[in-house]
Amino acid sequence: MTARPTVVVTRKLPPTVEAAIAERYDAKFNRTDIALTPEQMQHVLRTTDIVLCTVTDKITGELFDSRVETRLLANFGVGVNHIDRAAARKYGVTISNTPDVLTDDTADIALALILMSMRRLGEGERHLRNGSWSGWRPTHMMGRSPHGKTLGVIGYGRIGRALARQAASALGMHVIYYAPRDVRIDDPSTAGPEGAERVDSIETLLVRADVVSLHCPSTPETRHLINAERLAMMGPKSYLVNTARGDIVDEYALTAALRDRTIAGAGLDVYEWEPTVVAELRDLENAVLLPHMGSGTIETRTAMGMRALANIDAFVSGQQPPDRVDF
Ligand code: DGY
Repeated sequence: MTARPTVVVTRKLPPTVEAAIAERYDAKFNRTDIALTPEQMQHVLRTTDIVLCTVTDKITGELFDSRVETRLLANFGVGVNHIDRAAARKYGVTISNTPDVLTDDTADIALALILMSMRRLGEGERHLRNGSWSGWRPTHMMGRSPHGKTLGVIGYGRIGRALARQAASALGMHVIYYAPRDVRIDDPSTAGPEGAERVDSIETLLVRADVVSLHCPSTPETRHLINAERLAMMGPKSYLVNTARGDIVDEYALTAALRDRTIAGAGLDVYEWEPTVVAELRDLENAVLLPHMGSGTIETRTAMGMRALANIDAFVSGQQPPDRVDF
């Protein structure tokens, strides 16, 4: 690596973050803010010491070969399913991510999606804006109350536990969760709510929960974890919330379940083929659809950028990046 390492930042970042990067590194920024093509990304990997990338960069196995010069992929975000980790490892490329700083904002969006779908808030807003509202009446647009209902959290990491705390305290929900391994909690303030109950299988959770919220990473094992068969285990009064990754859910199977009302509703922030969304899903009133906004506050996006920069700084000074991804 050169004395002043080269850094390519693949998408536009908050100005304070770009300024901090420019001060320390020989940095190139993406002024168009259009995702790099595979050819452009391969060129960047062959000519740049460090790449600060995001979820929109598909860094597939084909892009790696012995000509790769990049030594660190400092991902802006927690999920790294867009990077072929085995190929990166093979060619000696370290990966880091930005955990912790986006926990609360992402959990807030999951909470919002619970309320939006159960209380039909997107549908209500559309109803008013399109001029259909004829006035208050007792049976108009009745939703379902989350209070006293059961929230089933799949994946009990930082975000899943933060949502569980919020849903228990703000909405009075009982929490059950599924986690494949015993969850080790270093800081008790990040623990789940008292009374949260671990269940032994996803199937048990799907049958018992009124709202199922997904918080597991996208891996080959979790692809289509929620498929037609599992959606059928949820009841016609239940809701699905996804703020994790789109490919955890079979989007066509979900569309069919919502259309046939075998589940009551869904609140989604992520999609299987982002930014494309299954056309029929977009037409369904019982689907709340947000454009991947989980961590989208200026505070959090700035903190994510600074955290990616801290990983770069550590790496350049010969240390392990504090958020090195080693799974
Ligand atoms: C994350 O951190 O994984 C967000 O979804 C952005 O990539």
